[in-house]
Amino acid sequence: MQKPHTGSKVNSNCRIKTNQRLTVTSQAYRHSPSPRPVPAPQLIIGQSMKRREHPPKTTKNLIMNGECNGKTSSPPNDIRNDGDSKKSQGPTVGGCPVMSRSSAQQGPTVGGCPVMSKSSAQHQQFVKIQNFSSGKQYVDTLHQKRETTVTCSEQRCFGSMMFPEKASTDPRPKEVVLSHAVDFINEYYDHIKKRSSPLYEGRMKEVQESIEATGTYKLTEKELIFGAKMAWRNSARCIGRIQWSRLQVFDARNVSTASEMFQAIYSHIVYATNKGNIRSTMTVFPPRANGKDFRVWNNQLISYAGYAQPDGSIIGDPANVEFTEVCKSLGWKGAGGNFDVLPLVLSANGKEPEMFDLPLSAVLQVEFSHPSFDWFAALGLKWYALPAVSCLLLDIGGIEFTGAPFNGWYMVTEIGGRDLCDPQRYDMAKKIAQGMGLDTNSYASLWKDRALIEANLAVLYSFQKAGVTIADHHSMADSFLKHMDNEQRLRGGCPADWVWIVPPISGGITPVFHQEMLNYKLRPSFEYQADAWKIHSVKKKTEESPKHKMKGITFKKIAKAVSLSTAMMNNAMAKRIKATILYATETGKSEYFADRLYEVYKYAFNPRIMCMEEYDITDLENENLLLIVTSTFGNGNPPSNGESFYENLQELMLDEERSLMNLSMPKNYRKKHDKIRFAVFGLGSKAYVKFCAFAKDLDRILIRLGGERIFKVGEGDELGGQDVSFNNWTRDVFKKSLEEFCLEDDENYKEAVKMLTTEGQQWDKSNWRFVETNKKGIDVSEGLGTINKKTVSACKILSVENLQSEQSGRSTILVKMSTGGLDDMDYEPGDHLAIFPANEDSLVNRIITRTDLQGIQPDVVTKLEKQEMKTTLLGTVKSWKVENRLPQCSLRTALSRYLDITSPPTPDFLALLANFTDNEDEKKNLNTLAAGTSLYEDWKFEHHPNLAEILEEYSTVEIPASLLIAELPMLKPRYYSISSSPRMFPGEIHLTVAVVIYTTREGQGVEHNGVCSTWLSTRKQGDEVAAYTKSASTFHIPSNPSTPVVMIGPGTGIAPFRGFWQDRVHYLNDKQNNGKLSADWKLYFGCRRSDMDHIYKDEMQDALNGEALTDLFTAYSREPGQQKTYVQDMLIQSSSKFYNHIMNNDGHIFVCGDVSMASGVYKAFLQILEENGLTKEEAKTTMSNMLREHRYHEDIFGVTLRTDEVTRQLRENETNETSDTSQQLAFKTRINPAKK
Ligand SMILES: Cc1cc2nc3c(=O)[nH]c(=O)nc-3n(C[C@H](O)[C@H](O)[C@H](O)COP(=O)(O)OP(=O)(O)OC[C@H]3O[C@@H](n4cnc5c(N)ncnc54)[C@H](O)[C@@H]3O)c2cc1C
Ligand SMILES: NC(=O)c1ccc[n+]([C@@H]2O[C@H](COP(=O)([O-])OP(=O)(O)OC[C@H]3O[C@@H](n4cnc5c(N)ncnc54)[C@H](OP(=O)(O)O)[C@@H]3O)[C@@H](O)[C@H]2O)c1
Ligand SMILES: Cc1cc2nc3c(=O)[nH]c(=O)nc-3n(C[C@H](O)[C@H](O)[C@H](O)COP(=O)(O)O)c2cc1C
Repeated sequence: MQKPHTGSKVNSNCRIKTNQRLTVTSQAYRHSPSPRPVPAPQLIIGQSMKRREHPPKTTKNLIMNGECNGKTSSPPNDIRNDGDSKKSQGPTVGGCPVMSRSSAQQGPTVGGCPVMSKSSAQHQQFVKIQNFSSGKQYVDTLHQKRETTVTCSEQRCFGSMMFPEKASTDPRPKEVVLSHAVDFINEYYDHIKKRSSPLYEGRMKEVQESIEATGTYKLTEKELIFGAKMAWRNSARCIGRIQWSRLQVFDARNVSTASEMFQAIYSHIVYATNKGNIRSTMTVFPPRANGKDFRVWNNQLISYAGYAQPDGSIIGDPANVEFTEVCKSLGWKGAGGNFDVLPLVLSANGKEPEMFDLPLSAVLQVEFSHPSFDWFAALGLKWYALPAVSCLLLDIGGIEFTGAPFNGWYMVTEIGGRDLCDPQRYDMAKKIAQGMGLDTNSYASLWKDRALIEANLAVLYSFQKAGVTIADHHSMADSFLKHMDNEQRLRGGCPADWVWIVPPISGGITPVFHQEMLNYKLRPSFEYQADAWKIHSVKKKTEESPKHKMKGITFKKIAKAVSLSTAMMNNAMAKRIKATILYATETGKSEYFADRLYEVYKYAFNPRIMCMEEYDITDLENENLLLIVTSTFGNGNPPSNGESFYENLQELMLDEERSLMNLSMPKNYRKKHDKIRFAVFGLGSKAYVKFCAFAKDLDRILIRLGGERIFKVGEGDELGGQDVSFNNWTRDVFKKSLEEFCLEDDENYKEAVKMLTTEGQQWDKSNWRFVETNKKGIDVSEGLGTINKKTVSACKILSVENLQSEQSGRSTILVKMSTGGLDDMDYEPGDHLAIFPANEDSLVNRIITRTDLQGIQPDVVTKLEKQEMKTTLLGTVKSWKVENRLPQCSLRTALSRYLDITSPPTPDFLALLANFTDNEDEKKNLNTLAAGTSLYEDWKFEHHPNLAEILEEYSTVEIPASLLIAELPMLKPRYYSISSSPRMFPGEIHLTVAVVIYTTREGQGVEHNGVCSTWLSTRKQGDEVAAYTKSASTFHIPSNPSTPVVMIGPGTGIAPFRGFWQDRVHYLNDKQNNGKLSADWKLYFGCRRSDMDHIYKDEMQDALNGEALTDLFTAYSREPGQQKTYVQDMLIQSSSKFYNHIMNNDGHIFVCGDVSMASGVYKAFLQILEENGLTKEEAKTTMSNMLREHRYHEDIFGVTLRTDEVTRQLRENETNETSDTSQQLAFKTRINPAKK
């Protein structure tokens, strides 16, 4: 905070001036308090221009332009560039170039300044400003948004006044609040691009009503953060504004006492100091209300005391003599040194101030030495690392925040030039010059200049050596011009106060010196305000006793500054730093892992967890720490609830202003500490070529958006070690997060990561109870809808028919359902139907018989409640809270419809089970598995055990019903490609479902039924099926009927194509379309044998006969007497035909089914392209282009073909790479190997 006057230090990247100079009484100074001779604002004509080496034609500078408001085509009228002819327009008013008489004459001025002229304010839209070094010109239009007058009058330019004005202490009239609020809310909604949304309308109404009723309103946290950033962005005096969007804002509007303020400030200092890697930070206390303010009395959070001596000299910082007196009057006893850190004096809600010692451990200071002058260190100089201005008022949307300390990092000249060498400060220039052996008796030796340079060099050198962020004035000046450039592009201007922007040393050799600037005031803003002790005393005087005599400072003395323990401080700090955990999941695992992460982060952060689809992307710019857990679906795609987030991120990459790093920022300004920290964990399966692709993609995008990756992408392979990978990643990321946010605390770390061990998995039954509700349970479709946040409808079964031959031994069923004509169930061929099945009754019964029912009947509707304990001042308070995870239902319904009881339990769940047996062997075995090592993975793979089997195997375990309800994963819907056309079968949905029945251990294990396919196969006409449709917009029939199409779908992969050809048949049958069809549709189908599983044989033939299909190719893989053939083999056989069909006619390819088949088909296409003349590279590019252009479509079911064989092979490959078989063999699982 300095430049160009005395005293106050700056927040170098936010060089808003504090009022230190004026707060110091003149006798407190040893030296004259007059500011250093400032080059008069150099936009002023007359003698000041003589110091500027530019031709006189520049002196007329900033004349407002005439009519050019878009309605007329007149160009901006730039007097400056027209030389003498324009001079004839007359002299400027009062020497202020912005106040040229000619423009002032255009109408009455506001405050006497032409920028303020009412008529020009209405008409003049452009002001040209120029850089005299580069010749670059800007046309500023932003000034028209100015919301307050500047202080210049017709007679005077106030351009170099230290405090043009101070904020009033009176409450704001309602109308003023309202007008500011409306402007601000508009600006905010413009920023988040939701100005035309109902959200905007609602918010505006809410704000207006609140102001009408109460005279004020509450900013949302997001508005507050945006407003704080904008206040910085609008600070005309700050050279470091290129960082504006990266301000960390701590919302401390919930504090009510001075000691809470202190805790918040302590957290601020630790966070912002960041061990020297300074972060721009602001803490916002509650706003002014009923004239009661929250104030930080200090001008800066960290500053040095100044002690006036009887001889008139001063020890310490002369700038703080008056405030030191205030502290002393409150009972503070300074040590009397040159660099004593002042205590914090804080008053909450207009109450008496309280004083707090800052723990010195939190105050990072740098001792100065010089790279060449050894004697320099002996001067005993030092300075603190964190310039944090604490006396300004933050004005956002009409709301006045009287306490809003903020910091940036230092620009070297602020310390080296001003703090150390200003004559009215530490005044070290002469001593340094003497040390250098310079002649200090003559100006001609330029001893002052040379001393200043060396002082600056010493400061830079020492800060850098200590690893503390500092910027030199040249880089800052460069960055400011870059910022002006950005701002010009983004909002048509940048208010700037030349007097403050040009550094206090070496002005002319920094580029900002040569840059004209236009100074105007925008809101949100920072405002000067009267010193707290001055207005506080006056208020007290009038409030307490009219007779009270005000002699100097009159506060109740506080015996001793309060010191709060560091542990308490760290605790408070932890709760301030937010972490957002986002997940996207298809089958629920990522959500489960994200929950675990949340539990860990609760120990040291203030975390929140949410699904990506619920996340408001505009929050991203405000994140401190973003943790993502996501699976990959389709073929390298996001899970469906991650799609919108992915799209939003991609959009954000195109939005320069809102991108996380300000993409146009010079590279050296994209500092580590300014970025959003993030880490991503991906769940996937190595059965897919694009393993964890979505997680990796997010990681890449966040980097491109300017995020800072704190740890490499974690990868959890469902084929092995997913849990262990996640636990390891979490440990590492958590540790790194603690480091990054200066929260290192071994105890916290140890406690937190206990969550990841079996030790952390405890279950106290007595904290849970069931309460009968006397209600009927909620309808299952409705309940499922609530849980899954979807509109779930009940379809009715029309028929279920086996499509395979009875001899086949497998079954694939055609399920026909009625949608009852519900709009929600509308679909297009290619879309999916999500079905919520029920678990087998026998499995549910087997579990119930092994459950500790905790007093309930399995068929009675109950709600589960959890006992919560809160520690308050009155002791620990216990209360029961409903656990809302499931809708109210009976235990049986929960196990049948809502909970997943067939997926092998997670290691955590096994650890919980281990709590409920006294049998040492079983406990030990369960805990061994729960460690989640390869033993667990092998056990899971070999047995794929469900819960009933485990409970039977571990026969002494009695599982509490509450644990089942609270901890079992949710039963997830299964997707099916819709196998019908809505035009052919209105109101119906058909599915083609392979009934999954499998035995593990290569046929030796227990037989398991797939939940949904088996359930569907047992449905009868009229039964209800809870379902919703899910669009697969990238797998729709091309809208142009003459587009050639190739469909490839072996086995159940044929499902969507039945819908396709039905649609085509319908199209052909529609008389209106007669003769319009021209394109070929080819179908490639594959099955084992023509007589066993060639499903829809007749329908395909009919479609062929009716020309809905032009070609049908069937690959039989197990046809007696024939060679094994797959669909991809048939594609290659018709290579050139195929190539011509698709490549020469902009055709589309659709592939549906198993992932290994899809990858085989993809490879076949590459081969076909190469066989038809493309190079390998060209073939790859062609395929990528086709994918991108949505001409190559894939609909992947998962690993469905030869599941066991494929996964076994992949696992073996993995194990060979990381083998620990001895341990594996040593563990004997007791799951019954006998086939049932
Ligand atoms: C987008 C999409 C569309 C789909 N469309 C269709 C479709 O049209 N028709 C269709 O039939 N299916 C389709 N599926 C698959 C379907 O969603 C189900 O996965 C399938 O029906 C099995 O569900 P289930 O509940 O019967 O079996 P689950 O209870 O979910 O059991 C299946 C699980 O059992 C395990 N498993 C299966 N076989 C073995 C084995 N041999 N050895 C060891 N473990 C094994 C695997 O972990 C497998 O994931 C589609 C899937 C997706 C993602
Ligand atoms: N999520 C699930 O777990 C799930 C979902 C649906 C189906 N299934 C199960 O998966 C099996 C698949 O049933 P389905 O009717 O869709 O198919 P399928 O009848 O098993 O197979 C269809 C055809 O595809 C062939 N094929 C196998 N691997 C291939 C590859 N890599 N590339 C190209 N073709 C390949 C098969 O040949 P082969 O003779 O070599 O087998 C067969 O000719 C069923 O047994 C069902 O139980 C599981
Ligand atoms: C239809 C389907 C497609 C998948 N696609 C991929 C893929 O492209 N890449 C990958 O690594 N994993 C893929 N997977 C595996 C899942 O990511 C993995 O099962 C993960 O553990 C699921 O986590 P979730 O429950 O959070 O969705 C796929 C799984 C299915 C069923």
